[in-house]
Amino acid sequence: MISTATKLANRSFSNCMMNAAGVWCMDEAELTAIDDSAAGTFVTKSGTLVSRPGNPEPRYYETALGSINSMGLPNHGIDYYLDVVAAFQKKNPGKTYFLSCTGFSIEQDQTLLRKIKDSEFNGIVELNLSCPNVPGKPQIGYDFETVDQILAAVFAEYDGPLGVKLPPYFDLVHFDQMAVILNKYPLAYINSINSIGNGLYIDDEKEEVVIKPKNGFGGIGGEYVKPTALANVHAFYQRLKPEIQIIGTGGITSGRDVFEHILCGASMVQVGTELAKEGPQVFERLTKELQDIMAAKGYTTLADFRGKLRHQD
Ligand code: FUM
Repeated sequence: MISTATKLANRSFSNCMMNAAGVWCMDEAELTAIDDSAAGTFVTKSGTLVSRPGNPEPRYYETALGSINSMGLPNHGIDYYLDVVAAFQKKNPGKTYFLSCTGFSIEQDQTLLRKIKDSEFNGIVELNLSCPNVPGKPQIGYDFETVDQILAAVFAEYDGPLGVKLPPYFDLVHFDQMAVILNKYPLAYINSINSIGNGLYIDDEKEEVVIKPKNGFGGIGGEYVKPTALANVHAFYQRLKPEIQIIGTGGITSGRDVFEHILCGASMVQVGTELAKEGPQVFERLTKELQDIMAAKGYTTLADFRGKLRHQD
């Protein structure tokens, strides 16, 4: 019997795969489709204190190798997602759901966490520190001092299971520095990576950018980003204390990609661009492909190969 089940934050999941925040998670209907799919659970779109329309359209564009987006955090507001997740919790009391949220200041992060704490939510919080698409707001994850301050403030407020969604890092020294900060806190997990921020995809026929916000600059996802995602997952796997688990996100289009994320140290994976392209049935295909690889290699559980990437002498 080959199992793709996993554990994260001491919670059990029937499958290690789920959606990435931002894809198929805007409202109850989309979340229901993920809940009914082969995914182990879902994460909501990042909820802000007040609902947001996001950036002007077109703001998402699919390419042969991935996608570019500048959504600008459109969402229905944290209260909406708390209500929706509460209904899922009632329907499936044994299942753990993820609630993503993001504030625009430390005070807003604290208010969000206070609201979550005062609600019926009993799942896992994913604090998004890495949206690259809000004009005038830099990605928090690149400001190490602020990340430290946010985590100190958040854990003063909240003692439930909480992870952070990080942007990709590109320098070994930055992995070292960020790991020192993350290791100071009782984080349940980190999620690496958000999209590679501020790429530019152009239509050379029209001699024009393909999305409207920010003169066409947007977050890059899909096949383009897999090597960067694997590097981030593995670099943090080597540097974080064992209690901080890793969700691997970026460039997953096949069961082989899931296998590689787990080999690099991920305990769970999230699928973004490929889910947007294929829809929720993608999880059935990815699960089957991963099981076939595990069978061929004689593995029956993810623990048989998680983090066991070999280095050369
Ligand atoms: O623009 C967006 O809504 C994207 C958010 C994110 O990448 O975290």
